[in-house]
Amino acid sequence: MCGIIGYVGNEKANNILIDGLLALEYRGYDSAGIATLENGIISVMKDKGRVKNILDLDGFDDLESTYGIAHTRWATHGKPCKENSHPHCDNSKTFSVVHNGIIENYNELRNFLTDNGYTFYSETDTEVIPNLIHYYYNQNKNENLSVEDKILKATISATKDLKGSYAIEVISPLIPNTIIVARKDSPLVIGTKEGANHVASDIPALLRYTRDFYLLDDNEFAVITKDDIKFYNQNMENYKKDIKNIEWDAAAAEKNGFEDFMLKEIYEQPNSIRETIGSRLKLNEKCSFDSLNLSKEYLSTINKIYIVACGTAMHAGLVGKNIIEKLCNIPTIVDIASEFRYRDPIIDEKTLCIYVSQSGETADTIAALKLAKSKGAKTIAISNVIGSSITREADYTVYTHAGPEIAVASTKAYTSQVVLFAILGLYFAEILGSSDISTLENLKKDILDLPSKINELLEDTSLIKEFADKFYKEKDMFFLGRGVDYTVALEGSLKLKEISYIHSEAYASGELKHGPIALIEDGIAVISILTDEDLVKKSISNIQEVITRGAKTLVITNQNLDYNNFDYIINIPSTNPLISPILSVVPLQLLAYYISKDKGLDVDKPRNLAKSVTVE
Ligand code: F6R
Repeated sequence: MCGIIGYVGNEKANNILIDGLLALEYRGYDSAGIATLENGIISVMKDKGRVKNILDLDGFDDLESTYGIAHTRWATHGKPCKENSHPHCDNSKTFSVVHNGIIENYNELRNFLTDNGYTFYSETDTEVIPNLIHYYYNQNKNENLSVEDKILKATISATKDLKGSYAIEVISPLIPNTIIVARKDSPLVIGTKEGANHVASDIPALLRYTRDFYLLDDNEFAVITKDDIKFYNQNMENYKKDIKNIEWDAAAAEKNGFEDFMLKEIYEQPNSIRETIGSRLKLNEKCSFDSLNLSKEYLSTINKIYIVACGTAMHAGLVGKNIIEKLCNIPTIVDIASEFRYRDPIIDEKTLCIYVSQSGETADTIAALKLAKSKGAKTIAISNVIGSSITREADYTVYTHAGPEIAVASTKAYTSQVVLFAILGLYFAEILGSSDISTLENLKKDILDLPSKINELLEDTSLIKEFADKFYKEKDMFFLGRGVDYTVALEGSLKLKEISYIHSEAYASGELKHGPIALIEDGIAVISILTDEDLVKKSISNIQEVITRGAKTLVITNQNLDYNNFDYIINIPSTNPLISPILSVVPLQLLAYYISKDKGLDVDKPRNLAKSVTVE
């Protein structure tokens, strides 16, 4: 939800800011803008639509400033248009601000500022921020402080008035070559190298410049120049922070010859899964996590596990539930974070809560985690982003190590999350002694074999492409499965919706005749997943019911189906049913991808979506 970029150094800022925005465009692409200082005056260039539009604006190439701030927007308050684009300035053009997040009390603040003579030119919540800074700056104008400290003080005072979430950057002609930043509940990182400092909403956007980062915490402020970064708390006390060295390499955030990030990320799965496994799982050894040290005494007291997440991460949690219940015999509930946080869930110190978030910045998931902590539960975060907000809130973090995921539709993060659940399930079961050793060792072997099986799957994708080519103009599709295959049906349906804009429904196969079968009509595409030997006969009966009603069927299976009258069968390698989603999801990811391509859509940046949902 919105990306912010900042740069201060020796080079011209305009193109560096645009490059940063392009790397963050997956976070929102309704409008974009940059602010620099030209001849002592703030210059703002902004427009609706994609970041590249800024390059065509008159005067862009003439910008000389060696510092500036920039923004790519996912609209919340106010439609996508030039006026609502960031950066926003105060009425006197003394302060320019970019903001990611939502100011919940902006109406109240707007009224307050209007009463104090300020005028508003946009419908955004953000415009209150530069004006509030101006208001407080005027209040402390006569104090015996440096101009920089007066502006910092005004920024701190302004943020104290804000309810909601924000990552902001502020520039002013009064303190040239300086950017002030602050954050609360929205991500902001500072990448540092000799002679230049960069600001961004995420680390991959800056990997081409540096691997040394400061991760700003909530209610922290930084005053950034090209050679210096000073950190402050809300009391304006100055302190030092540690640099974090990030291991991801810059190439991981590039397309590397693939047409789209999504396709690249689908093909990266054998490798990302290897990274997730790392040294955590080895045959004939107990699973271990560097960051987890749970005792048998503690795990034996747990009477319930909650897995809480949103979207695809929640779908990974559904597979995790299955694994944990089977291996550890602990009742496990999966909940959608936005529901969990408002329904007063029954949680105490005997509940273990696991939160899954690729970005680690999803507002609902973070709030749900804070809620469980306040009720005494232990919390584990599963995240892909080092130092992300959720990892700083949780008692323990286990990283998926899938590498940067840039495409809005999640693929490799999902498979890595499921692999992590499998290792977590093994880890708990080994501590508890809740499953026999041969079951656990067989599962380990199957997990270790996953990368080569995905490679096998990716060798020939022609049948999936053929199905996509035939059905891409459809208006509706259905996904069916039982047990763990149902969880994959949900994920396949979500992928299709988000990048192809085809309406689709996922149903537990047995549930179909309790209503939805009324929607099955001649020619409709029904995609079924059949990987669980124990359920295969029942699922086949359900597929026959839709064939009888005219459906065209695609079946993804690892079973030998002797007789069948299905239109398409995609055979996938066999594995332990507990982890079969890691294989069966791949054709579904490709199906959504090919359909989206056939429709000529922007696969990586589907309409209305953003990668990181930092608002409720
Ligand atoms: C779908 C997708 C979303 C995310 C969801 C949670 O492809 O990517 O459904 O899974 O927004 O995001 P994270 O995992 O970052 O918390």
